[in-house]
Amino acid sequence: MSTNTRCTVTVMPDEAEIECSRGDNLLEALHRAEVEIKSLCGGAGTCGSCRVIVESGQARTDDGDVISEGDDPLACRTEVTADLQLHVPEESRRAEGEVSADEPRHVLGTVRPDREVPVDPVCQVTPVKLTPPSLADNTSDFDRTCRALREVTGREAFSASHSVLRGMAGSLRENDWESTALWVDLQTHGELIDLLSPEAAGEAYGLAVDIGTTTVVADLVDLRNGESLGRAGEYNEQQRCGEDVISRINFASQKDNGIQILKEAVTGTINRLIEQLVREAGVCERGIRAVVCAGNTTMIHTLYGLDPNNIRRQPYIPTVGTVPPLRAAEIELNTDPDARVFSLPAVGSFVGGDIVAGALSSRLTEREEMTLLVDIGTNGEIVLAAGGSLLACSASAGPAFEGGGISCGTRAVPGAVERFRIAPGGDDVTYRTIGGQPAVGVCGTGLIDLLDSLLQAGVINRSGRFNTELESDRLREADEGYEYVLVPGDETRDGADLTIETADIRNLIRSKAAIYAGIRMLLTNLALDEDAVGRILIAGGFGTHINLDAAVSIGLFPDIERDRFQFVGNSALRGARQALIDRDSMRDAQELARGMTYLELSADEQAAAFMDEFVAAEFLPHTEMERFPSAAPGDTSAL
Ligand code: FES
Repeated sequence: MSTNTRCTVTVMPDEAEIECSRGDNLLEALHRAEVEIKSLCGGAGTCGSCRVIVESGQARTDDGDVISEGDDPLACRTEVTADLQLHVPEESRRAEGEVSADEPRHVLGTVRPDREVPVDPVCQVTPVKLTPPSLADNTSDFDRTCRALREVTGREAFSASHSVLRGMAGSLRENDWESTALWVDLQTHGELIDLLSPEAAGEAYGLAVDIGTTTVVADLVDLRNGESLGRAGEYNEQQRCGEDVISRINFASQKDNGIQILKEAVTGTINRLIEQLVREAGVCERGIRAVVCAGNTTMIHTLYGLDPNNIRRQPYIPTVGTVPPLRAAEIELNTDPDARVFSLPAVGSFVGGDIVAGALSSRLTEREEMTLLVDIGTNGEIVLAAGGSLLACSASAGPAFEGGGISCGTRAVPGAVERFRIAPGGDDVTYRTIGGQPAVGVCGTGLIDLLDSLLQAGVINRSGRFNTELESDRLREADEGYEYVLVPGDETRDGADLTIETADIRNLIRSKAAIYAGIRMLLTNLALDEDAVGRILIAGGFGTHINLDAAVSIGLFPDIERDRFQFVGNSALRGARQALIDRDSMRDAQELARGMTYLELSADEQAAAFMDEFVAAEFLPHTEMERFPSAAPGDTSAL
């Protein structure tokens, strides 16, 4: 009997060879080797997305059953026991592709410019000239430095990092009692993080980071003048631990060392962005003196290595809403180790610092007209600004509009279908893919277009059921109900027909119903109707490409004049950047979070009303058609 405990897993068609130990979990081994395999539930064995096909060799399920050639086990439920060759099929592959960090041009064109943000950053560069010590003035070096800083800045209290104190005596004397002081404004006091010679340029860069569940985007900023030195984005490495925040929380609580794995994944992603940005800007990463992060509450918990478990348990209490600024070294960011990391405050477990950042950069409290800010992600986060007060909620929309949980869904990658037109009768379908590539799936914007097109063409009715009377070859019976062929196999990348099924349509309808019901809950809590809304700001990378008419036609957004909608792009990143370069904005963000009222939709007093709104919205566009006067009459047979 072989005593060899090492095995080789060969992954096809990549031909990648992974060295494993017997007993290794197959999904973890694939992730280690950076094979792009889906794991929507984070390895809990419930989503079915990590299926592989065994071509030769043997393995074992968690339950001890032998897996051999021709089997198609879930990688997360498979233990490596011997050499193995397997195939990762197209449907189990995570879409690759670059994350676009840029704002689409039409967004930049339609967003009203931010108010002039003054450059008064959280990390200040202050030249100081000290009175040399004498027998008559024997104040310590540190107190002497603080005294000089107080005179220049008017600030009362300062502290100093350990590394500054260590080098202080030599630095002050070598530079003849003149220095450039770098200090971070911690609101209660300033912390000295570097003392440089007066001739030194006083390099002070800052990093604004939008930590999304799916993507992370960062801006490198020169804090001396507020100029942007570059922007970069990457998929959040945490995706291998689950697609949405709930599966990440489950991962944290169920996996050994889960919290640490999540932390390392997100800090690893940020560190790669730092590496790219400083390389491209030709600066040193140790010149980064302050970092401001905006993210949902779960992302911020995982960044700091905090247990996110109670976020999803009633009564939904996060460990912390406002995390005190930490040293970068404490969370292992590759910047100046003494750089301070700030995160914008959360309002609640499901309304995080990202939405506060969006409210800040959109100047929600300054707007006279009643304004809704809608950020569509896995959670639809919505804020209503009315008469200076802010009411926020989070509607659990699920990942459908991000392509998750939809059989034909994908992210906005090359080959993703982003536009559909279906002629009445359902036979003629025209579509457009990103980059004109062969179709790989349908992205969020395409799914909105698709749902509307299917309805307008009479392929589905208002309850989302297929019209089985339709005489079109595209509609056919499948294993579970019907499916409709969107793109035939000879036009897709993997050669298989791209189809949509009844279950997909139900998921999409549920997602749009959750967001619309969330909007209605905010309005009805203030005894308002849709007509009162002067402006709807659509935030998030996904929002920027939405076909508005289609979105209203399916009942995702209220049916108000289209010119009252405005795309605001990545408002979270802009808010983080604003707080980075303007200390007043950092304070404003705290005020904003404190002043925002959070409507918990699952709380007893709201849950029934939300459910009523949700059920009423589970039609296309809505059971109350009079709410959507501009929607085409379509097939009302389901009503
Ligand atoms: S079933 Fe394996 S990751 Fe979900």
